Amino acid sequence: MQRIKFVLSEAARLLAASSDSAVLDAEVLLCLTLGKERSHLRAWPDKELQPEHTARFWSLIQERQKGTPIAYITGNREFWSRDFHVTPDVLIPRPDTELLIELSLKLIPLDKPIKIIDLGTGSGIIAITLAAERPHAQVSATDLCLAALRIARLNANKHGTTNIQFYQSNWLSNVPEDKFNLIVSNPPYIAENDNHLQQGDIRFEPQSALCAGDQGLSDIKTITETARNYLESEGYLLIEHGYDQQRQVQTIFKDFHYDNVQTVTDLSGQPRVTYGQWNYRTGTNVSPLEP
Ligand SMILES: C[S@@+](CC[C@H](N)C(=O)[O-])C[C@H]1O[C@@H](n2cnc3c(N)ncnc32)[C@H](O)[C@@H]1O
Repeated sequence: MQRIKFVLSEAARLLAASSDSAVLDAEVLLCLTLGKERSHLRAWPDKELQPEHTARFWSLIQERQKGTPIAYITGNREFWSRDFHVTPDVLIPRPDTELLIELSLKLIPLDKPIKIIDLGTGSGIIAITLAAERPHAQVSATDLCLAALRIARLNANKHGTTNIQFYQSNWLSNVPEDKFNLIVSNPPYIAENDNHLQQGDIRFEPQSALCAGDQGLSDIKTITETARNYLESEGYLLIEHGYDQQRQVQTIFKDFHYDNVQTVTDLSGQPRVTYGQWNYRTGTNVSPLEP
C-alpha cells in the first residue's frame, strides 16, 4: 500500500521534467482521485491509499506526463470565481480574460435590460459571467463550433443563467437582426506560424479557437467591421487580443471609424483589450472606462 505523502513526492518528481507546477499538479490529481479537498492531503499525509485509488492516480499522472492540460484531465477551470466545465473542444479559460469582464461590468448598469453579445463564446465564460453578474441584461452568445456550444449551454445550466440565447454562427452572420449595447469577444488571435503553438497546454487546445490568418488579425478585422451593423448608437465593442497587437488593433478600429478607441493593460501590464464606441457623440468626450 502506498501512502499519500509518498505518492505525492514521487509524482511531483516524475512531473518536474514536463510541468512547471509539478507539486500542485500532483496534489490536484490526487484530490480528483480521492474526491477530497487539498486540506485532506495535508491532514492525512500517512494515510494509505486503496489499490484502486493508487492505480487511478498513476494513470492520471501518466496522462499529465504526456502533456495533457490539468483542466482537460479534471474537466473544469475556475473563472471569475465560478467553476466551468471544460473539454478539449473549448479553450481553457485564462485569467487574462477577466479584464474583458471587468471593463464590461463598468459599462453595464446593474438595473437596465441592456443587450450584450459574446462572439466566440467557447465554454461560455464571458457570456455566463456577464449574465450572472447582470441578471437584467439580455445576453446572446455565438460560436461556430457546435461542440463548444454544447459545453457553453451546459455551463449556463450549471450556473442557472437563463438570460442567455446561444447561436451557432460564423461571428454575426447567423444572428437575427438586432442592436446591442455591448459586443464583446475573445477571438482567435495567434498567428498560424507562432512558436507558442508548439509549447505546453496550448498544443492540446483547438486550433480553431487559437489561430487566425493575417498574422492573427483576420477574425478581429471581420468582427470589428461587422459589429458596426449590430451596435446601438454609442454602443461599445470590446476585443481581447495579443500583448503585441495593440497598434494593429487600434488601427483596425480607427479604419472602421470607431470613436474613443482605447487599449487597456492586464494585471501583468500587457496591452490586452481594445475597445471603441460606435457613432459616439462628441460633447461628453469622456469614456466611462477612464479611471
Ligand atoms: C479564443 S477562443 C475564446 C473562447 C471563450 N470566449 C474564452 O474566452 O475562453 C475563440 C472562440 O471563437 C470560436 N470561433 C472561431 N472562429 C469562429 C467564427 N468564425 N465564428 C464564431 N466563433 C468562432 C472558437 O470556436 C472559440 O470557441
